[in-house]
Amino acid sequence: MTETNSEKHRLQELVEELHQRHASRNDGEVATYIPELGKANPEDFGICVATSGGRIFETGNSDRTFTIQSISKPFTYGMALEVYGQNKVSQHVGVEPSGDAFNSIELENGTNRPFNPMVNAGAITISALLYEHYGDEALEIMLARFSATAGRTLVVDEAVYSSESRTGHRNRAIAHLLLNFGMVHEKVEPALDLYFKQCSILVNCRDLAIMGATLSNLGKNPVTDEEVYDIDSVKSMLSIMLTCGMYDYSGQWAYRVGVPAKSGVAGGVVAVVNRQMGMATYSPRLDKRGNSCRGIDVCVDLADELGLHAFDCMNIGSSYLKAILD
Ligand code: DON
Repeated sequence: MTETNSEKHRLQELVEELHQRHASRNDGEVATYIPELGKANPEDFGICVATSGGRIFETGNSDRTFTIQSISKPFTYGMALEVYGQNKVSQHVGVEPSGDAFNSIELENGTNRPFNPMVNAGAITISALLYEHYGDEALEIMLARFSATAGRTLVVDEAVYSSESRTGHRNRAIAHLLLNFGMVHEKVEPALDLYFKQCSILVNCRDLAIMGATLSNLGKNPVTDEEVYDIDSVKSMLSIMLTCGMYDYSGQWAYRVGVPAKSGVAGGVVAVVNRQMGMATYSPRLDKRGNSCRGIDVCVDLADELGLHAFDCMNIGSSYLKAILD
């Protein structure tokens, strides 16, 4: 899959350059609040770009597996939208950035909904909706959907799952608060279990880049050609990733990188350039907000070097609109 032509493609050169440029950055901390995550090698560093046409450019530890964590959230949100429709989902979860940390214990004033599906409260509510619909088959169905999005069979890391399940008291508190306000049904424990398992799905950088490329390609995996998400869900998923995907860094991210993205506490970041590419990084040292330090740097540079920001003068915008205006 990787480009191996004797003359290196400019994108392959670029990912290698960026890897070299940022490999020496060693601030930030590996997450330890889920004890098993603390075993990650802080030096691991991978970058992968997958285009909407299915070409792959990768470097470093792009094969190293790690748990998807919060990067699962936009994908389960898309699944819930397809099962329940936007109206029903929006009765349970809002679409406003909270401006607060991913694990904050707060609900929207007046509605008692979680602010959005990217913070833990919103993602747990989405998992509860999926559990309500699919029951005990929910995990299997989720794994099948995530695998189709990545183009490879994905599995749960049992050690990370049980580590989070044993120590996830804050998420349990959030789930019971949601139950108190009628935002989730009474089967809180199996819903939480589903949430912990979805966060523990193992991916590598290449999987994430292809998952991003699937969103960039209107929901169709560009490597396998499988239709995975419908186009309306993709639009909603990307909108939420743009406004809320990097938590209380989302404003700065939109300003500096300008494309939808999602981070996870195991150290992954995925970003999506509509109709063009998915890009992913893996480096487990995190900043105070739970975002990968090197991951942010690489995405900022990629956006600058390739003019990816939605409002960059290099970005010509919607080719569909251009065709009907011309
Ligand atoms: O719920 C948790 O705390 C984790 N399973 C996921 C958090 C996460 O990845 C936040 N992202 N930066």
